[in-house]
Amino acid sequence: MQKGYFITFEGGEGTGKSTQLALVKETLEQKGITVRVTREPGGTELAEEIRGVLLRPRAEIVNVTTELLLMFAARAQHLAQFILPAIERGEWVLCDRFTDATYAYQHGGRGVGEDKISLLEELVQASFKPDLTLLFDAPIEISLQRMRDRGALDRFEQEGVEFMQGVRSVYLARARLEPKRFRVINAAGTLHEVRGSVNHHLQALIDDWVSA
Ligand code: TMP
Repeated sequence: MQKGYFITFEGGEGTGKSTQLALVKETLEQKGITVRVTREPGGTELAEEIRGVLLRPRAEIVNVTTELLLMFAARAQHLAQFILPAIERGEWVLCDRFTDATYAYQHGGRGVGEDKISLLEELVQASFKPDLTLLFDAPIEISLQRMRDRGALDRFEQEGVEFMQGVRSVYLARARLEPKRFRVINAAGTLHEVRGSVNHHLQALIDDWVSA
């Protein structure tokens, strides 16, 4: 049986990736493809509990290594219990953030060494990577404005402009390093424009699937 595809949606806060993910689900389902939608950290009961622990603002300073290990603990569970079985069944998995977010946030934002992240990446997922990663990129000012409109902020959203710039620049650097896997989408456009660009980038994968 043909394996499903694993597509990840990445970007800083307020770039509209989650909205676009829901639209992609619709587009794919209209083509008769079975789609599973999930997110990180999270995606299973246990991983969602870890998400709660990670996102909740707290008075205690969270050690960066603790944060990193919890991200990968959630990911190990998510991969084993949700992502890999779905792909094996021939379903497409659309995931709101994955390991690129760890490089962007824990390395770009927090300054954790990339070597530590790649060590855990190897342990948890070996060579497994997304088939396609859509990176929604927008200037920090746009992200800030959209976040202001949102209300209560989680522990990551409470970080400052410097953190957000670090996240954005690591995402863009990763996209340059792996141009085959990444598509950078200008998220500053209208919902309609961004949707058009996403559909354009998805087309090759859909054509592949249909012809297989
Ligand atoms: P969300 O707001 O897009 O649902 O993502 C939850 C937060 O978790 C977001 O601020 C980014 C952060 N995050 C990391 O710091 N590292 C990771 O590996 C992942 C998956 C998310």
